[in-house]
Amino acid sequence: MHLTDEEKRMRDGAEGEAVAAAMDLLIRYGEALGAERLCDTRNVAGTMTQPSPAKAKLVEEGGWAKAFAVINLDCDDDIEVPRMRVPTCQLQHGYSDDAAGLSKYSVANIELQGSAESYFSERGVNILATCTPYQVGNLPVRNEHCAWMESSAVVYCNSVLGARTNCEGAASTGAAGLTGKIPYWGNHVPENRHANRLVRADVPVESFQDWGMFGYFVGEQVEEERPAVIGSLAQPDLANLKHFGAATATSGGVEIYHIPGITPEAPTLEAAFGGRDVPDAVAYGPAERRAVYETLNSQGDSDDVDFILLGCPHASLDQIAEIARLLDGRRLRDGTELWVMTPRALRIMADRNGYTAAIERAGGKLLTDSCPAMSKAAPDGVRVFATDSAKQAHYLPAILGIEAWFGTLDECVSAALTGKWRGELAA
Ligand code: F3S
Repeated sequence: MHLTDEEKRMRDGAEGEAVAAAMDLLIRYGEALGAERLCDTRNVAGTMTQPSPAKAKLVEEGGWAKAFAVINLDCDDDIEVPRMRVPTCQLQHGYSDDAAGLSKYSVANIELQGSAESYFSERGVNILATCTPYQVGNLPVRNEHCAWMESSAVVYCNSVLGARTNCEGAASTGAAGLTGKIPYWGNHVPENRHANRLVRADVPVESFQDWGMFGYFVGEQVEEERPAVIGSLAQPDLANLKHFGAATATSGGVEIYHIPGITPEAPTLEAAFGGRDVPDAVAYGPAERRAVYETLNSQGDSDDVDFILLGCPHASLDQIAEIARLLDGRRLRDGTELWVMTPRALRIMADRNGYTAAIERAGGKLLTDSCPAMSKAAPDGVRVFATDSAKQAHYLPAILGIEAWFGTLDECVSAALTGKWRGELAA
């Protein structure tokens, strides 16, 4: 791999052992990927504070420096962790103190995470604690090289913002934070970003649910390729594209898509394909739409619902406002829990606008930092949950061994108020 003089200096220890270990990791990683060089990044979104049994053991042995060395730098040496060289943020992690006592999630994990937050924030890691950093202060600009983890954030970053990132891991983001470098390959290379598959919606894609189901179909069809999507698409908003991208990265491994006339690298269909031949389209019609709906509801059996989960990916302020409006003056059925997940920065705005109070008066909770799939914990004794998120409906049954229903926000709120699932696919 070609290294600049600055990169050689870092590799050779001029900026300390941790930076040298980080550069060594990036060189090994880049060479394994066939990258010919590194590129500069000033935008890293990774994970350092997420608690785990392995991390707890490492912290006990050698503190957070040891945990960071092993997990984020793949290095066994005793190192000092310096301040991050470039802006770096923590993505979602485990539940925080606002969720203490609401599930079997351990207090020890919450405490471990609290100590990690202190340690890493002193070293320049911004604790955004969300899978949607682009909602709360980390909004990269077009063409900016980033080093992000979290599949739903990566696909949003590439597709909607036109910034450039591969789907990184804990180690590569740790190393990128310390060096401001990341291997130049994959989605960093302009030619690799053009669409190579085409999917056409022959049924209207308008609502939040429609965009999630369409994304789930697209991901199933193209797997890890790069779709352009056309057809009967209404103007999407942030929440629609947040849901759409997360779904493409759930049923498939999509990291970038294009919507001609909407996403920044596709002013036209021809531009989306970079001037290459446009392939025949895969059609998404009524039968395909029905099949996606049935797949997402294949884990539901009992219509007695005891848990509603909203806010996957983490809810926007508009979504919270709508949930508050639907719940205002009403009361959840006894024995039914409703959780809404959001970034903590948006929770503060929801508090200020009275949305949190409306949700809580109804008996619901507005929680931050994590989600049941990430923290592998839901209210105690839950058997059947309902959600408006294709991603959460896909993952949570396998993670927690519970039944799942997927529907609209109205259907989810209605289930919270009645304890009964009455969802059906609108014509
Ligand atoms: Fe975020 Fe959890 Fe969904 S981390 S994308 S709310 S699975």
